[in-house]
Amino acid sequence: MEGSVLERIRALDGEFDAALAGASNADALEEVRVRFLSRKGEITQIMRGLGGLPPDERREVGRRANALRERSRIELDAALAALSGPQDTIRGEDLTLPGRRPASGGLHPVRQVELQLVEVFRGLGFDVALGPDIELDHYNFRCLNFPDDHPARDMHDTFYVTDDVVMRTHTSPVQVRTMEKVQPPVRVVTPGRVYRSETIDATHAAVFHQLEGLYVDERVTMADLKGTLAGFARALFGDRTRVRFRPDFFPFTEPSVEFSFYTEATGWLEIGGAGMVDPEVFRSVDYDPEKWSGFAFGLGVERIAMLLYGITDIRTFFENDLRVLRQTW
Ligand code: FA5
Repeated sequence: MEGSVLERIRALDGEFDAALAGASNADALEEVRVRFLSRKGEITQIMRGLGGLPPDERREVGRRANALRERSRIELDAALAALSGPQDTIRGEDLTLPGRRPASGGLHPVRQVELQLVEVFRGLGFDVALGPDIELDHYNFRCLNFPDDHPARDMHDTFYVTDDVVMRTHTSPVQVRTMEKVQPPVRVVTPGRVYRSETIDATHAAVFHQLEGLYVDERVTMADLKGTLAGFARALFGDRTRVRFRPDFFPFTEPSVEFSFYTEATGWLEIGGAGMVDPEVFRSVDYDPEKWSGFAFGLGVERIAMLLYGITDIRTFFENDLRVLRQTW
């Protein structure tokens, strides 16, 4: 009995090798597994019969049958893995799946609009100039004809850094910095962030963006200002956009206007202030007001973004809601 069982195991050893060598696909391997390892498989049958053997024989037969069972399991698994190609799996990862893209950042919607505005003005012949966010009172106010203690300063709720240094309340100081550096003719736009201690509501933020424009040459008139802003509005919103100018006051322009654009989604929205550069400002940068004239304007970038995308609350831009930030604008 003992001899025949051990012989049978030895024979199975060779039969398993032959069966495995002849199995070239998953179905064939499964057949091998069923033949040797399933509940009614050849090796399993031998394990089942162990109980009927005398105890001293049982151990030797059991040891060999067990070794064959382990070996056949391992070799079957390896043959199956080899079929799907070892290069395709690493520790359970399926390398044939498409990769996960890392989350990538994007330009903030307001920044995208700022770039769009700059492009429109480049098309109209304007260069770009930048200035500092932390600004001297001198440039933010004094050179722009806001005398010390003048009530016009109350138009801006200013964050003071020191008595002489402020967080710039508008982009107009860059006009002055530019004129100090270059001689006319000048045609620049200056985009940037500005700061005001404002009460925040649907159209007012405390940190927002402006884009300033300055055009200085001989015989520049209010008609040039209106033509430029109307052309700008049409480039952004199409030919049917309406532009409205109303009298306003700024210490650094004379006359001064505020201008609004109209779209169906938002109605009239005040976009910016503008006017003809005040002779006092020209004098502060040593431009001869008899020879040169010019216009300037400053507009709110968020206000334009609101018009472009039909957004009715400026706070939408600052809440950092990924559903907003992830949109392709
Ligand atoms: C100015 O800041 C002037 N420097 C504009 C100017 C430039 C006039 C050159 C003449 C010549 P004002 O304070 O009105 O003006 O602001 C201009 C625009 O910025 C506003 O029309 C509005 O579109 C935007 N703006 C002003 N305050 C806020 C705010 N709190 N939140 C968002 N946008 C604002």
